[in-house]
Amino acid sequence: MQYKILGRTGLSVSVAGLGCGGHSRLGQTYGHSVEQSVAVVKAAIDMGINFIDTAAAYGTEAIVGQAVRGLRDKVVISTKTAILPWGEPNAKRFTGAQILEQLEQNLARLGTDYVDLYSLHGIVRSQLDYVGSEIVPALIRAREQGKIRFLGVTEHFGSDTNHRMLSAAIPSGIWDVVMVGFNLLNPSARRNVLRLTQAHNVGVQDMFAVRRALCNPHGLKEALDTIEKAGQLDRRKLDVGDPLGFLKDGTQGIVDAAYRFCRHEPGIDVVLTGTGKVEHLKENVTSINRGALSPEIQAKLEELFGQVDSVSGN
Ligand SMILES: NC(=O)c1ccc[n+]([C@@H]2O[C@H](COP(=O)([O-])OP(=O)(O)OC[C@H]3O[C@@H](n4cnc5c(N)ncnc54)[C@H](OP(=O)(O)O)[C@@H]3O)[C@@H](O)[C@H]2O)c1
Repeated sequence: MQYKILGRTGLSVSVAGLGCGGHSRLGQTYGHSVEQSVAVVKAAIDMGINFIDTAAAYGTEAIVGQAVRGLRDKVVISTKTAILPWGEPNAKRFTGAQILEQLEQNLARLGTDYVDLYSLHGIVRSQLDYVGSEIVPALIRAREQGKIRFLGVTEHFGSDTNHRMLSAAIPSGIWDVVMVGFNLLNPSARRNVLRLTQAHNVGVQDMFAVRRALCNPHGLKEALDTIEKAGQLDRRKLDVGDPLGFLKDGTQGIVDAAYRFCRHEPGIDVVLTGTGKVEHLKENVTSINRGALSPEIQAKLEELFGQVDSVSGN
């Protein structure tokens, strides 16, 4: 496993991070028992992964807590809380005091006294002023009390595919680490986010490296349709039957290419991989530790998708 320094946190983190959310939620989405999901986290640690991302909304914090018992100082735990009740966009926003109550619940489920990285989850541009005035002062108090080591924010990539929130948030100096959506179908974070994070020495976790678009033909079709509708793709340049077939040249396939594309992007520190399957995890860790894609494939991706900012690949 290769390791990198996570921006100004100074933490040494594995380039592959375990994502405990996404569509799999460590397999909880498709019926894994708690023990099976705990085994996925333990397998990740055995493979050298020391960065584990979870969230209250995923229902996997207690699983992570169980898996890291006795190993707390060997892992960097990243967890998150939303500023609204999850899935209720019209509900009243939480106050700073309520966020601190939620932090106590995060800590209890994780079975720890502190989290290394505490992020606000899925924030959009219109929430930033409220976050800055009401929530951040509370989080700074929690950091002073030693309950949080570093502060983070994650974007809502599904609705913010051109990173309006992060491009406004990063220069504030508040956030030590951000989570951004970046993949080979939408590399727009290169322009809008990664230049800023590098200038401000902010650590970066990458999400959506594969998601549905890059591991499922229906997901890919939907994503390509969306990009075409936005006027950002000339479909004639793609093979109708196997649109991303060119990625298989010199790689282990589309998933392998997708993780390697993200891993070698300057400014990305940790590529999250989300799965409930140990076999997938092994393949993905191997991919993330492989070399960069060939210059020919990179040039073709740039030609096809270099200007895309209209899709997440969800
Ligand atoms: N706004 C936010 O804060 C936010 C939003 C989304 C995600 N996240 C974080 O980012 C993490 C990464 O996102 P993600 O989980 O969507 O990750 P991802 O790694 O981009 O995609 C995971 C999907 O790909 C499948 N997959 C994984 N490896 C595969 C392989 N080798 N072959 C075929 N299919 C494979 C998984 O299914 P299987 O289970 O079948 O492997 C799953 O459906 C999440 O887990 C979460 O921690 C944060």
